[in-house]
Amino acid sequence: MTEAWRPDDEDERFRRGARGSVKVRVPAKINLRLAVGPLRPDGYHELSTVYHAVALYDELTARRADTLTLTMDGEGTGELALDETNLVIRAVRALAAYARVPAQARLHLRKQIPLAGGLAGGSADAAAALVACDELWGIGLSRDELATLAASIGSDVPFLLHGGTALGTGRGEAVSPVLARPATWHWVLAMADGGLATPAVYAELDRLRAAGAAPDPVGPPDDLLAALRQRDPQVLAGALGNDLQPAALSLRPALAQVLDTGVAAGALAGLVSGSGPTCAFLARDTAQAETVADALHDAAVCRDVHLTHGAVPGARLI
Ligand code: C5P
Repeated sequence: MTEAWRPDDEDERFRRGARGSVKVRVPAKINLRLAVGPLRPDGYHELSTVYHAVALYDELTARRADTLTLTMDGEGTGELALDETNLVIRAVRALAAYARVPAQARLHLRKQIPLAGGLAGGSADAAAALVACDELWGIGLSRDELATLAASIGSDVPFLLHGGTALGTGRGEAVSPVLARPATWHWVLAMADGGLATPAVYAELDRLRAAGAAPDPVGPPDDLLAALRQRDPQVLAGALGNDLQPAALSLRPALAQVLDTGVAAGALAGLVSGSGPTCAFLARDTAQAETVADALHDAAVCRDVHLTHGAVPGARLI
């Protein structure tokens, strides 16, 4: 957007907007349970999932400007396109169109969440962009309006606004909180070299199912929700599950070794995060998480290892 535009005295919303810069922090997500239903006519699969936001963050800074620009540093720099295809730009354009304001901002993204890692990094950045520009432009959308815009950008974006631990239905975009007293769960994330494209992983699951080669589906998450309420990591470990895991393993057989290494080192459970290839390991406490992380590092089965915890809030101004 390059046309000249200046605020005038009538433009109350602009005057309410932030004068300096706005910074938003947004977490990554894992899926504690990901039950994938049939392929829908719109090309999406019906999901029943339990999302969990973990303390691995991207940060988006937004400043007033006359045009719309995006720069970045950190994970994926040089690989991630910063053009109109970027989910940040798409989110900003959608917000500007909805609020009828010019899409003008100078954005900088600091990434820790890997690209195409099954951690919803792109969706997280889109959620951060909505929160940042809503504040920068002084729009003040309601949570419901932001969630509707978020769903138009991607299935995981509403959850990244929400954060915590939440149930996702529909194609994942219909989010409702999980009612459990807050607890801290310790996780180790094993980052892989190279990503997996989400549509390819869903397509591989369809192929495996059509060939009768997919394991039984993990089913609805009732036992997982009960496990969250019990607050016992050993019980939670037994309830984790991901229908996309066999598909990710089929496309990336080396992930089996990553999962075996983490579990052999004492993790209570290991599973592929979302569409992968990141693997997430549940640990009883920080000490056990460190042992698992050391073993993964020493076995050289992954590119990087992160100790983290959940659940944490979604995209927030800092
Ligand atoms: O919603 P999003 O754009 O993030 O989804 C990316 C792709 O993942 C979709 O185009 C589709 O191939 C696959 N997907 C799916 N079913 C879902 C969510 C995503 O098949 N519920």
